[in-house]
Amino acid sequence: MKIGILGTGRMGVRLAALYSAAGHEVVLGSRDPARAGGIAEKLAHPRLKAGAYQDALDAPIVLPAIFIRDGLLDQLEEMRESLDGKILIDITNPFNDDYSDFITPWTTSGAEQIAERLPGVRVVGAFKNVWWEVFDAPDFDGTLSDVFVVSDDEEAKQQVIRLGEGTPFRYLDAGRLSNARTVERMTLLSGELGARYDFFPRMNYKLLGEQWTPGQADHTIGPLIA
Ligand SMILES: NC(=O)c1ccc[n+]([C@@H]2O[C@H](COP(=O)([O-])OP(=O)(O)OC[C@H]3O[C@@H](n4cnc5c(N)ncnc54)[C@H](OP(=O)(O)O)[C@@H]3O)[C@@H](O)[C@H]2O)c1
Repeated sequence: MKIGILGTGRMGVRLAALYSAAGHEVVLGSRDPARAGGIAEKLAHPRLKAGAYQDALDAPIVLPAIFIRDGLLDQLEEMRESLDGKILIDITNPFNDDYSDFITPWTTSGAEQIAERLPGVRVVGAFKNVWWEVFDAPDFDGTLSDVFVVSDDEEAKQQVIRLGEGTPFRYLDAGRLSNARTVERMTLLSGELGARYDFFPRMNYKLLGEQWTPGQADHTIGPLIA
């Protein structure tokens, strides 16, 4: 599968490396194609190419790695023609400049803002809960952490989950697109906890659970009460 990534910041570069190492063709696009070229040369993955945003937009799956506070929504609107009908992997968390809060109200999410502005695009939220340094060392003492994947487009969501095969994460179908409100805000909490316990920025979530059969003797917690 071919993936176009927009932006050569912390997330763009790491996701380009992640997907190309997993066997996908990746075009890393930048406002400054020479910078993207230098990064691709250093990463030296045979399947990773560099270029301008327009080159990355030729791919059937596009992943913008740009902050909403830096004008992502307006930039995407200018790319509407290239994006229509495609899968857009949305990784945004709408942080303000000092990362103390979000610039969007509680009644929405970055993912929904994009879907609203670009109704012809198949928006799938992913990687929102993964802080950048986790990509550099994804193994936590033998445990891999989770990527929560959300979308209202079931087929696109499953495609993005499959795209993660061969990457060092577990992908969870986290339901509808509006669940991005919760997933995005989980980073406000993980950021604060990471700072408090000195993990920042290498911490992530993993959902713990097990199959439960009613009546099984060794369970102390009863069924959920509806
Ligand atoms: N950092 C994290 O741990 C993390 C985790 C999960 C999700 N995210 C999300 O991932 C996205 C990118 O985060 P990041 O930490 O990778 O950001 P970053 O390091 O600041 O990189 C953002 C990139 O956006 C591009 N860009 C386009 N227009 C821009 C503008 N007007 N001003 C500044 N940069 C502009 C730049 O790439 P070019 O110059 O190459 O075009 C820049 O390198 C954000 O939406 C963020 O919420 C981040």
